[in-house]
Amino acid sequence: AQQLEQSPWFLSIQEGENVTMYCNSSSVFTNLQWYRQDPGEGPVLLVKLVKAGEVTKQKRLIFHFGDARKDSSLHITAAQPGDTGLYLCAGAQCS
Ligand SMILES: *[C@@H]1O[C@H](CO)[C@@H](O)[C@H](O)[C@H]1NC(C)=O
Ligand SMILES: *[C@@H]1O[C@H](CO)[C@@H](O)[C@H](O)[C@H]1NC(C)=O
Repeated sequence: AQQLEQSPWFLSIQEGENVTMYCNSSSVFTNLQWYRQDPGEGPVLLVKLVKAGEVTKQKRLIFHFGDARKDSSLHITAAQPGDTGLYLCAGAQCS
């Protein structure tokens, strides 16, 4: 199994602040997905990153896939109370 290390595990911030979280690995991934999970719900796919160096924006959320396809970041600009939730990443290695 290939390990993905997510950081930080927990983050408490003020409304309006920027947040960046990471998903890092020593392995190369074909694609990397970010999910959001709310209490009592299943994970909802936010994005699937496939290209090295890809940057995808969804309103205040900016996703970045590292040049080596080993790490990814999720940046939330001017965080709002509705952004509160559990963010998860998953990587796939397809041949
Ligand atoms: C994850 O990768 C990013 C970008 O390369 C780096 O800035 C960050 O320090 C890394 N975090 C950990 C926990 O390795
Ligand atoms: C927050 O992020 C936005 C867009 O990424 C940037 O333009 C802005 O300067 C950042 N603000 C702070 C306080 O870092």
